[in-house]
Amino acid sequence: MNNLNGKVAVVTGGGSGLGRELSLCCAQRGMKLVLADVDAPGMAETERLVKEKHPGIETVCWPLDVSQLDQVEALANFVQERFGGTHLLFNNAGVGSAGPIWESTAKDWQWVLGVNLLGVAWGIKAFVPRMLKQGKGHIVNTASAAGWMNGPGAGIYNVSKCGVVAMSESLVADLKDVGGNIGVSVVSPAFFPTPMLKNSQTLRPQDASEAPLSDIAQKRKEQTHYAMQNGKVSAAQIAEMTLRAVEENRFYVFPHPKIKALVLARASAVQEETTAFDPMAAR
Ligand SMILES: NC(=O)c1ccc[n+]([C@@H]2O[C@H](COP(=O)([O-])OP(=O)(O)OC[C@H]3O[C@@H](n4cnc5c(N)ncnc54)[C@H](O)[C@@H]3O)[C@@H](O)[C@H]2O)c1
Repeated sequence: MNNLNGKVAVVTGGGSGLGRELSLCCAQRGMKLVLADVDAPGMAETERLVKEKHPGIETVCWPLDVSQLDQVEALANFVQERFGGTHLLFNNAGVGSAGPIWESTAKDWQWVLGVNLLGVAWGIKAFVPRMLKQGKGHIVNTASAAGWMNGPGAGIYNVSKCGVVAMSESLVADLKDVGGNIGVSVVSPAFFPTPMLKNSQTLRPQDASEAPLSDIAQKRKEQTHYAMQNGKVSAAQIAEMTLRAVEENRFYVFPHPKIKALVLARASAVQEETTAFDPMAAR
């Protein structure tokens, strides 16, 4: 989709981090914006920044929980009625939880998979049929380097992001069956600085905890925090790379080139049928 000016973008997770930067990149290209997030003050701040940097851009804030299909369908209905359709959907909202996979609670599984995996599924389910009817559109799913390799202390998150990659490739395959002009991109960044860990701590369902984090879970959480805050590529840079991929209709977006080398190293381990690929050892 090479001319975004005047078109309509919906950004889940638009109240913070990468979603905020994606919104600003869309506004910079003259797009109308619908921000969709559980965090109403976060969305208000994104809207304020859009107004400040790109005056005249129409922005709507729509509070919702992406893990709830009826709420995502209500969003799609609203955008249809208000703007006549959606051109660009970012399935970007995401959360994480820390700890060895056997320590994760049932609530953690339901919560993280609900947001990271079902949130993307519901976005596709609610918006793609409408895009097919209008004859054009583009879906961007935010996965992660964790969609391609599985490090320690983030089992549910890894599973959710592998699922996002699978869902994105499946979407392309299914769209080929019906023709049409719907683009798809999947973005797989490594760590970059955002308040994601803090936000996830706030958003984690209160009844998700069975016990305080174990020592190893706490250690992995601290390592993740360090890696995120010291990430060298910013959310703004990743957003700009993503918008360029949309404009050039590219599917895979790897903002950190080293991740592609690790994907190849994993493929070699598969080829050799050796031990499970360890991204921490391969870095
Ligand atoms: N920051 C990183 O290091 C990193 C790396 C790879 C991938 N990602 C992915 O990037 C995406 C954006 O993350 P971020 O780093 O900007 O984090 P962030 O916390 O800054 O932004 C995520 C947004 O999602 C919203 N959200 C959470 N649960 C929601 C729900 N149920 N319904 C609607 N909105 C909800 C939050 O309120 C927040 O505004 C996520 O999918 C994340 O998994 C992040």
